[in-house]
Amino acid sequence: MPVPRAGPLNAETRLPLRFLTCGSVDDGKSTLIGRLLYENNLVFEDHLAALDRDSKKHGTTGTVDFALLLDGLETEREQGITIDVAYRYFSTRRRSFVVADAPGHEQYTRNMATGASNADLAVLLVDASKGLLSQTRRHAIIVGMLGLRHVVLAVNKMDLVAFDEVVFEGIADDFRAFAADLGFRTIQAIPFSARDGDNISAPSARMAWYRGPALVPYLEEIEVDHDRTDRPFRMPVQLVSRPDGDFRGFAGTVADGRVRVGDEVVVLPSGRSSRVKQILGPGGECDQAAAGDAVTLTLADEIDVARGDMLAAPHQRAHLADQFSAHLVWMSTDKLLPSRSYLMKINHGTVAATVTGLKHRIDINTLSKMAAKTLALNDIGVCNLSLARPVAFDTYSDNRDTGSFILIDRYTNETLAAGIIDFALRRAGNLHHQQLAVTTAQRSRLMQHKPLVLWFTGLPGAGKSTLANLVEAGLHARGIHTTMLDGDNVRLGLNRDLGFTEPDRVENIRRVGEVAKLMSEAGLVVLCSFISPFRAERRMVRELIGTEAFIEIFVDTSLETCIARDPKGLYRRALAGEIKNFTGVDQPYERPEAAEFHLAAGNTEAQELADRAMEYLIERLLHDM
Ligand code: ADX
Repeated sequence: MPVPRAGPLNAETRLPLRFLTCGSVDDGKSTLIGRLLYENNLVFEDHLAALDRDSKKHGTTGTVDFALLLDGLETEREQGITIDVAYRYFSTRRRSFVVADAPGHEQYTRNMATGASNADLAVLLVDASKGLLSQTRRHAIIVGMLGLRHVVLAVNKMDLVAFDEVVFEGIADDFRAFAADLGFRTIQAIPFSARDGDNISAPSARMAWYRGPALVPYLEEIEVDHDRTDRPFRMPVQLVSRPDGDFRGFAGTVADGRVRVGDEVVVLPSGRSSRVKQILGPGGECDQAAAGDAVTLTLADEIDVARGDMLAAPHQRAHLADQFSAHLVWMSTDKLLPSRSYLMKINHGTVAATVTGLKHRIDINTLSKMAAKTLALNDIGVCNLSLARPVAFDTYSDNRDTGSFILIDRYTNETLAAGIIDFALRRAGNLHHQQLAVTTAQRSRLMQHKPLVLWFTGLPGAGKSTLANLVEAGLHARGIHTTMLDGDNVRLGLNRDLGFTEPDRVENIRRVGEVAKLMSEAGLVVLCSFISPFRAERRMVRELIGTEAFIEIFVDTSLETCIARDPKGLYRRALAGEIKNFTGVDQPYERPEAAEFHLAAGNTEAQELADRAMEYLIERLLHDM
């Protein structure tokens, strides 16, 4: 195929088209992008010489392998996969383009979502010889969910199916039927061969039956709606800049609308308002800024503004809520655990968040709603989320920037999910904390000691309950007001609806934590004896109670000793496969890393261990008096 070359770059002055390429592995994304860069003169001669050499060494096509053109290509070649989103730029005479190249491997949905959130259009690749794959469908759903309204169904490798019209039409029909409810405004199917160049820049003689546009002319023509400047002003504050005592500026990128010097703005969540005094852009002071501009604003009044706050138009404010419904794309090999406390990053702020209800998972092949208790890697689901405090946001359909968030793990900082906000849940706003007449401090004075939560954790059979009982008896004998929450007992009453799956254990500890809090507010020393196998939940209870009143006691008995003791015969049954999800056997126990009190149990008499714990506790209680 002759390669038409674009002349000097004098693309029209309109904004570049930002598009994303996605699809399954081996559908030919790299080859397509390589060819787009090549045909538009963005490959230098020395690259071409290297490419020729490399094609002989690594290439899969026999001739020049355009896939080898891409950067990041060292790792890609070594591992045989692409591992990050790469943005590439090219221009034709008529338009300039930014391509987000998102890798196709299942585990890299994260990169794909990142690429999609900045794009106007998606080029969804399909291998003509394979048809629509699960991964193609998954990417189509994510693309639709992230608000892209224009899709090109790029049916590649037509050379492998003898340029057959019937094959192409079959794939295009399948896709149109599948995508009917994904919210796309335009779907253009284009048959081509990235390797040979058919239907890339010019119509191919080998597919004379195809009457539509070739890929590049189509991308040059398509109109996507860019204009966000007539919408209400939004600017999430990324940084409070205070170079000296006099200057206090709020830096961020305008997410929507525009702002002028003198405009009134409201700060959310506080609701305080002021006027814009100055706008500083990269080139110095300016009178206005619009969506997409990175600026620093100063305000006429000295009001509190922090990173994570939002500046907004006062008469068209963003929503403010601590509960909302959202779509999640789960991106971690650790499953979603409803009730677990995660961190949400939204509009440059961080807030504790829990999934309070998983409504359903989306079956990616049929788009039907499936009942689900959890989400696994690459699953897409709809859930309610509850936050530790209200945050300002827009729904994703109103604004992609201020309506999206990520969830991260509190320990590892790993990104677990990307989410988009569907709508705020109002019910939460109707509840207000009631002030109580008798305070915890007053109750504690009557008791003549401080409240405490003593949290015994360890494997089943470690001796938690035995020790907790001895300790309680000892405290009681010294006139301390105590109560006991014990795993088996609580599970026979309050938590009788819960089993031993990971999500149920998380919920078990969440409820127990709340009960322990109520009882410690009543002034009691609360002894809690639970396996509580996960660090995240022990930490959650610690934060709920407050570090000064929470004492974690790790009853550290080795698994071998617990199995040898087997007081309830449960290890024997678990090892025989009769009981599933048994801690230490087929479910993990995460050892505490910094328990206040570590009891190396196992070989020592229980009473001696209890005495040791008592000594420590009495000291602590007396000290706190
Ligand atoms: S936790 O993991 O959610 O903290 P919890 O301490 O409430 O567990 O309950 C543990 C008790 O349930 C154990 O003492 C044991 O008697 C009983 N049990 C029954 N099945 C299991 C199981 N699969 N894993 C652990 N404990 C179990």
